[in-house]
Amino acid sequence: MCGIVGYIGHREAYPIILKGLKRLEYRGYDSAGIALFDGNDIKLSKTKGKVADLEEKVGKEIPTSATLGIGHTRWATHGVPNDVNSHPHYSNSGNLVIIHNGIIENYESLKKELIKRGYVFKSDTDTEVLVNLIEDVKKNENIKLGKAVQIALNQVIGAYAIAVFDKNKPNEIVVARLGSPLAIGIGDDEFFIASDASPFIEYTKNAIYLEDEEMAVIRRDKGVKVRKIKDDSLVDPYVQELQLNLEQIEKGGYDHFMLKEIFEQPSAIRDTFRGRMLPNEGIIKMSGIEDNMKTFLNANRIIVIACGTSWHAGLVSEYIFEDLARIPVEVEYASEFRYRNPVITDKDVVIAISQSGETADTLAAIKLAKSRGAFVFGVCNVVGSSIARETDAGAYTHAGPEIGVASTKAFTTQITVLTLIALRLARAKGTISSSEFRHHMIELELIPEKVKKALESDAYVKTIADIYKNSKNFLYLGRGYNFPVALEGALKLKEISYIHAEGYPAAEMKHGPIALIDENMPIVVIATKKGHYEKVVSNIQEIKSRKGKIIGIVTEGDEQVRALADHVIEVPETIESLTPLLTTIPLQLLSYHIALMLEKNVDQPRNLAKAVTVE
Ligand code: AGP
Ligand code: GLU
Repeated sequence: MCGIVGYIGHREAYPIILKGLKRLEYRGYDSAGIALFDGNDIKLSKTKGKVADLEEKVGKEIPTSATLGIGHTRWATHGVPNDVNSHPHYSNSGNLVIIHNGIIENYESLKKELIKRGYVFKSDTDTEVLVNLIEDVKKNENIKLGKAVQIALNQVIGAYAIAVFDKNKPNEIVVARLGSPLAIGIGDDEFFIASDASPFIEYTKNAIYLEDEEMAVIRRDKGVKVRKIKDDSLVDPYVQELQLNLEQIEKGGYDHFMLKEIFEQPSAIRDTFRGRMLPNEGIIKMSGIEDNMKTFLNANRIIVIACGTSWHAGLVSEYIFEDLARIPVEVEYASEFRYRNPVITDKDVVIAISQSGETADTLAAIKLAKSRGAFVFGVCNVVGSSIARETDAGAYTHAGPEIGVASTKAFTTQITVLTLIALRLARAKGTISSSEFRHHMIELELIPEKVKKALESDAYVKTIADIYKNSKNFLYLGRGYNFPVALEGALKLKEISYIHAEGYPAAEMKHGPIALIDENMPIVVIATKKGHYEKVVSNIQEIKSRKGKIIGIVTEGDEQVRALADHVIEVPETIESLTPLLTTIPLQLLSYHIALMLEKNVDQPRNLAKAVTVE
């Protein structure tokens, strides 16, 4: 996975592409590169490292006359991150240059063929194979670049979003997509190419999102022509008007995107239920549910598929759906589900949860479920993403762009959408009374203010972070609705501070992890008043007897845990099913402050990428 950017028009291409790459760095950031056409030749610069390293490398050698160019920020799949493997890649003749997001699965056999025909390869990438395949087709058939790209892509197995140009035809860029996103911004006599719309949002609000198996020839003078890669048929593309604004994308005064996104949660959660929930009238309305109510009500069970944090939101939803709507739920890792020949029937409803809507394993699991007759419902954040389009129906989380690699507001807004769905189904099934239904809605409506209150613990959480920042291990414990929150808290700490952490159901502790506890082990225990409070208090006693350091997440005014714990962080009171929306807040802040104190890259942790579009 990676970010790709391109420009063809009348402006200076370099600053547009560079800024665009910075906005797309969340998609991959192990190397970066750019190729510009300066009127005579291609000027290519690339390097291992971040876009800032590329900027430094390009230095003052900027071809200011260039009005056409492509850029890439990489997340390596084939070949280690180094200068040579960085994109863009030239073809052997030096005429063609390409950027690529995805994987060419049959690159080895294609490479062997090309080597037989005299091609040599400088890099270990699958991408260099593709650009030479295009060159080979173009040369042999003596055809235009667009046609050559099309013929070459018909020989390719895998996933791609590509942009390629020919220095002998510097008036066009050819792009194509299968499995990786690609948007084309349409300006006045200028065109932008990007993995998402953020690189061109200040230039145009009009965009075409290429569909899978589509390609486009973008010409300075003639505009955009879209075709199907397989059968060459022309497509009349839908030009979408973008709602996104730049402020939503930039850091908004915070030091890090993650912190901004943590503090955005009150408004993000409100945006999620806005217009969908009317507590006074006793109504929840979501078109994706209303239109498919029969399917939901006749379902034998719900299977939730997701990865990472989205999987944790799925686990929370298992409690909500079973508790409120009395529908059996199974929660599956998409990566396991897709390969284990699961029993799926047309009586199953599958809910796929994904912030990015691009996660390869989730996408593959959706395809499998659909092929076996299940109805698939998507819960995505990114509008128009692959998963949003692949599913039969869905509901967006409306959290706004999440740039920090560590997911925060996506998690709480996913839980919010899933709660709305569970409540709506529960009411339709009659498993909750109308007064319970209304009570839940009123409580949900209060959540944004309560999240704001929970965020006030920030300064105190920072002091706790300072005490435990050098710990080698952490344990996170929770029960019931807060067991998935414990898992999520541990994941947050691991991914941005690189401290080992484990989440566990509090009562499972005595079946193994208790052996780890000594005076050096910090243990975060979620012990809110609702649910199994007394049981969790007993678990805390067990930890205390073994001298573990207890950080309790408690309900405001709690005295019992305060008397036992080394530290307590208070969150406001709410009904049990909504506690995860509050208890997760201090855990996000704790991981943020520890990572910052350890001088880690909070927004772009090592080895990770925002959207995992490869297996
Ligand atoms: C979350 O902090 C992680 N970076 C990761 O686990 C993420 O939730 C996972 O890759 C799933 O992504 P998705 O929601 O975009 O499908
Ligand atoms: N497969 C290509 C590579 O390894 C592209 C990876 C990406 O999407 O960044 O270079």
